[in-house]
Amino acid sequence: MPSFPSYRPRRLRRTEALRLLVRETVLVPSQLVLPLFVRPGKGVRVPVSSMAGVSQTSVDELVRDATTAAEAGVGGVLLFGIPDHKDDLGSSAWDEQGPVQQAVRALKRELPQLVVITDVCMCEYTSHGHCGVLVNGEVDNDQTLELLAREALSHAQAGADIVAPSDMMDGRVGAIRAALDGVGQSHTSILSYAAKFASTYYGPFREAAESTPQSGDRRGYQMDAANVDEALRETWQDIEEGADMVMVKPAGPFLDVIARVKDETGYPLAAYQVSGEYAMIQAAAERGWIDRDRAMMESLVGIRRAGADVIITYFATQAARSLTAR
Ligand code: PBG
Ligand code: ZN
Repeated sequence: MPSFPSYRPRRLRRTEALRLLVRETVLVPSQLVLPLFVRPGKGVRVPVSSMAGVSQTSVDELVRDATTAAEAGVGGVLLFGIPDHKDDLGSSAWDEQGPVQQAVRALKRELPQLVVITDVCMCEYTSHGHCGVLVNGEVDNDQTLELLAREALSHAQAGADIVAPSDMMDGRVGAIRAALDGVGQSHTSILSYAAKFASTYYGPFREAAESTPQSGDRRGYQMDAANVDEALRETWQDIEEGADMVMVKPAGPFLDVIARVKDETGYPLAAYQVSGEYAMIQAAAERGWIDRDRAMMESLVGIRRAGADVIITYFATQAARSLTAR
């Protein structure tokens, strides 16, 4: 280790050109994925009050937002559905005419080069707002698997490139892989929300997706924030069941988990900068307490530096623009 005065680290920080030359972590727009919330109707755009700049939209408006994102160079979109009809089983999750299924078809028609990922979960479709079937007040793991497989299959058949189960039931990746392969959808990829923590940072999302549990919380199936060895077990299990890519979520408060999952598995890794992480930056920026653009870029570079290959973020379009303007 060379020491001062022979080693002067400041020499390579003197100009932007020098800094760029030796930058270790590169973030490019194609690594960004934009989450979008789709609901039935036409010309619908309902702003989400807790997430400045984010709206629920109908398919036509969603195609507009996806086009803007694609033009900025964003690599993909992640779709969440808000159905008209909710019931105990969340049966509209596999409706061929559901908002997600229609959005997938429209996107594949209008923007065939954009990667389309669908979130697979029951909480947006169930009347009780839990991520699976409730039996005696508890989410029943094995009964839920069948429903998730039906939902994933219907997204794949609509043309989704990647299905992304976010429910945290045990065995769901295997159940979905088997269902897809069984009907000739072996080309559809699975991105599993492998290490998804029970997080308070999902608060604003639940307004956006109208998926707040009516009673209780999700700690019976999502992970405890204190656990990193368990995150590795969850991830390996999903890989063994056939996950093509894995995810850590949230991103910012779990950078150590991102680093370990990447180091130990070497698998393509996505990290989700969730609604609360986004809302905090937006709220501070609105008050003039923080610089929006720089906080956005610093948070995203940090997630890449920790080891994420792909970042799912509500900033995707804005960040892609800012990256190409440099
Ligand atoms: C649904 C789901 C959630 C998010 C993604 N998929 C919420 C939850 O588990 O309660 C959170 C995304 C965000 O906060 O941006 N299973
Ligand atoms: Zn859910």
